[in-house]
Amino acid sequence: MLEGRRIALGVCGSVAAYKAADLVSKLQQAGALVDVILTERAAEFVRPLTFASLSHRPVYADLWEPTGEAAARHIELGQAAEALIIAPATANTIARLAHGMADDLLTNVALVTSAPLLIAPAMEGHMYTHPATQANLRTLEARGAIIIPPEVGHLASGEVGVGRFPETATLLAHIRRALARTGDLVGRRVVVTAGGTREPIDPVRYVGNHSSGLMGFALAEEARDRGAEVTLIVGAASAPIPFGMTVIHVGSALEMRDAVLKAIAGADALVMAAAVADYRVEHPADHKIKKGSREENADGTLTLHLIPNPDILKEVAASPAAPGLIRVGFAAETHDLAANATGKLHKKKLDMLVANDVTKSGSGFGVETNEVAIYHADGRIEQLALLPKTEVAAAIWDRVAPLLRTR
Ligand SMILES: Cc1cc2nc3c(=O)[nH]c(=O)nc-3n(C[C@H](O)[C@H](O)[C@H](O)COP(=O)(O)O)c2cc1C
Repeated sequence: MLEGRRIALGVCGSVAAYKAADLVSKLQQAGALVDVILTERAAEFVRPLTFASLSHRPVYADLWEPTGEAAARHIELGQAAEALIIAPATANTIARLAHGMADDLLTNVALVTSAPLLIAPAMEGHMYTHPATQANLRTLEARGAIIIPPEVGHLASGEVGVGRFPETATLLAHIRRALARTGDLVGRRVVVTAGGTREPIDPVRYVGNHSSGLMGFALAEEARDRGAEVTLIVGAASAPIPFGMTVIHVGSALEMRDAVLKAIAGADALVMAAAVADYRVEHPADHKIKKGSREENADGTLTLHLIPNPDILKEVAASPAAPGLIRVGFAAETHDLAANATGKLHKKKLDMLVANDVTKSGSGFGVETNEVAIYHADGRIEQLALLPKTEVAAAIWDRVAPLLRTR
């Protein structure tokens, strides 16, 4: 979604200015056209050449350059930008922006542009919490700016406090979200489940599965990037939790069922990518089971009696909470893929079932790729190639978006 998008990046005179170079690099790798605008002070921290080398584009700094070209530049840059992100933003530039000053190229561009303005403050803790800085940030926020909160951690001053420049991934997620204001899921509420459930045996043990959460996270991020308001219900997952959505953490299948039934109220689509346990331990012990304890059989073995978990998608189909909800299920199979997939699609009254054979290499748990077949309610079956999970996610929303328009 960043391919070909014009992003203006303002960099201010902060020690964190060098970190903006990584942001430029990642944006460029994702195909964005990045116009870097340095304040005069920023150029003292990192030379323009660093940014030009990474963005493969000219870097702008001097409003008063003698050629006169710059005279129109602030207008062109401001009009072309699809998002203006100022990262790192100094206390000084935040104050200038809050007061509508236009004394350098960056502040001029900020006044010209009608694109979303994102501000990532980075400074020493007292400067950040100072009432003046806070009041300026609130002023900008009230005008529609998106303030990316600084993180708590080690600051350049040697102290630990608030004011640390966020990780590149966080900044990228904010930019994607700002650009998503025009996506095909704008105004839609979607619920995505991800990760595996954990069925307690006792307070310290559980029955689980190998789900990493990657597929569900890719789906949630793709929906966010297309403008949806996303609720992500996540069980156990090893991949990092995505940003820019409502995240609900659950443990067992029963907790996931409750969270899903609550979250679908008023939702437009539900995509169940979580690996939900079919069975749970009937009576989890309330204490840690030890060798020789009363749970043990006479021959020293231990028996776990498993009972079926509720079928969440079936309950969703019967729920009156979300009439017209588009429902997409996942089936991870090891054999009889087609028969199992078709059976599940009809039994659970789904609009789509995404089936994958988890025994195939490059498909299923813990890997970045997936090879899936999409079974549609009208009987169509589409076999997709082996793709990165991000592209599988895009393919799924490509098919859900038109269905949403029909309901
Ligand atoms: C070594 C050094 C590091 C600085 N780091 C920061 C910083 O992280 N955040 C900040 O708001 N100001 C910082 N400043 C102060 C700004 O550079 C100063 O306010 C400057 O006028 C900002 O100009 P600009 O906002 O046009 O970039 C630092 C100054 C120095 C000398």
